[in-house]
Amino acid sequence: MNKVLVSLLLSLGVSVAAQAADAGKIVGDAEAGKAKTAVCGACHGADGNSAAPNFPKLAGQGERYLLKQLNDIKGGKRTVLEMTGLLDNLSEQDLADISAYFASQQMSVGAADPKLVERGEALFRGGKIAEGMPACTGCHSPNGAGLAAASFPKLGGQHATYVAKQLTDFREGNRTNDGDAMIMRAIAAKLSNKDIEAVSSYIQGLH
Ligand code: HEC
Ligand code: HEC
Repeated sequence: MNKVLVSLLLSLGVSVAAQAADAGKIVGDAEAGKAKTAVCGACHGADGNSAAPNFPKLAGQGERYLLKQLNDIKGGKRTVLEMTGLLDNLSEQDLADISAYFASQQMSVGAADPKLVERGEALFRGGKIAEGMPACTGCHSPNGAGLAAASFPKLGGQHATYVAKQLTDFREGNRTNDGDAMIMRAIAAKLSNKDIEAVSSYIQGLH
């Protein structure tokens, strides 16, 4: 098997094991979370389905993934200028409740650009084997639902504009909170701008 693939699979096992170890500390309460999201709704939509394509949809996103991102944003590991200071006064319980609330909602689905589907689907389902880049389906699942228990985010239905920005940010080193394993930075390094445009459009219509 290809070296890159082997190291990806190894790091995958490690991160899943590490996350299993800290499971079950604080339990999020979706009802309580709803009341804490008034300020978030302005950008992300009241139910987590944002209208603007540069604001990510949070509805139906995995609870563990959401909590990890909120901690990363609050702690400065991931920079989101639009959210500066917004999380400062929220406790670990607040963040868990908010994550539970958005996770309990349903993500809406958009449409893919028909001209980009073929290239986008080939990348999503096939990766670039010759270059050691695995298919997205391996971690984000064939229908883009992700793997909530392992904090692999749901992608299906997410805004293409947001997805493309994340892939570019991973590639350019502007988003580094995929951790020491650098899973997404290694993958995005193999994607051209045209690849990113196609796979992001495909993801927007995926369900
Ligand atoms: C002024 C607009 C704005 C407000 C208000 C806002 N956000 Fe965000 N949020 C953003 C933007 C923009 C991003 C994506 C930044 C990027 O491109 O990486 C983001 C990203 C996120 C992410 C990461 C999503 C992902 O898929 O990785 C989470 C989680 C999140 N916000 C939760 C919240 C919560 C909870 C609140 C309320 C306490 C909130 N946001 C308020 C603009 C906002
Ligand atoms: C080996 C597992 C793995 C593979 C394969 C993989 N990803 Fe990921 N991806 C992850 C993980 C883990 C994260 C979350 C990183 C973090 O915690 O910030 C992620 C995050 C993302 C995000 C950010 C989501 C958000 O809401 O901000 C996007 C977009 C993404 N991946 C797209 C892709 C695409 C497109 C492919 C295929 C070309 C792919 N991924 C292949 C594991 C993987």
